[in-house]
Amino acid sequence: MSNNTILKTANVNKVFGVKRNFLVDSSTNLVNAVKDVSITLEKGKILGIAGESGSGKTTFAKIISGLMEYSTGEIFISDKKITDYSKYDLAKKVQMIFQDPFSSLNPKLSIETIIVEAIRSKQKNAIIPAKELLELVGLPEDSLKKYPHQFSGGQRQRIAIARALAGEPELIIADEPVSSLDISVQAQIMNLFLELREKLGLSYIIISHDLNLLGAVSDEIVIMQNGEIVECGNSTEIMNNPKNSYTQKLISAIKTVSK
Ligand SMILES: Nc1ncnc2c1ncn2[C@@H]1O[C@H](COP(=O)(O)OP(=O)(O)O)[C@@H](O)[C@H]1O
Ligand SMILES: [Mg+2]
Repeated sequence: MSNNTILKTANVNKVFGVKRNFLVDSSTNLVNAVKDVSITLEKGKILGIAGESGSGKTTFAKIISGLMEYSTGEIFISDKKITDYSKYDLAKKVQMIFQDPFSSLNPKLSIETIIVEAIRSKQKNAIIPAKELLELVGLPEDSLKKYPHQFSGGQRQRIAIARALAGEPELIIADEPVSSLDISVQAQIMNLFLELREKLGLSYIIISHDLNLLGAVSDEIVIMQNGEIVECGNSTEIMNNPKNSYTQKLISAIKTVSK
């Protein structure tokens, strides 16, 4: 693995056992939610993952963030196997950002408490102070004394991003980070991701069902269907010249909508 690789997965599989109705049948249905997923992400790059609902995107995101176990395969973060990291060390490398910033922020805690707790849990000696983190994500200093309900959806996502940055991670996994936001705010958050990449040298995996949005920011794109990668490659090439019929369908759907 090259020194410049932040994430590499090889043939990652996730099988869920789903219980059938035990009155009828006590056996278990197996759902192969992620099938042989192999990707490589270079440092400082953005990899976009697209695919319709149920294609395994969230499952894969949780696995590479260390929030869910996988069934088979191999995952390397930098040059170390994901299973060789302690929970603490992995959280300092990789942070996940979720779709709904409201449910991921405790409504009873002030922004200061949320951010300071995140800093303390990730750094033995806080290096980036809370104020500086807020400035990085474009929120005013007086936000510290406020509570999550006093902010708009876009601002709450900025708070969640500030919290994720507390441990100075190298890789951000963002699962549908703008899907619950107004269209006008979506581009602002995506621009923030690009800005933070410049300032902090971050790498990203950004998941979205919106291929238009992913095409605009990603270096590489992976298309998933039923747990499998059906197409991957350079973002511009995929957007302009998709080879796979499912990708073609996703792209022509955008073109129809934007007409
Ligand atoms: N905890 C779980 N137990 C059983 N099946 C699950 C679980 N989580 C997800 N699945 C199934 O795995 C598949 C992929 O789901 P998910 O990763 O959420 O897809 P996406 O994020 O692309 O919409 C779906 O069929 C879903 O029902
Ligand atoms: Mg999902």
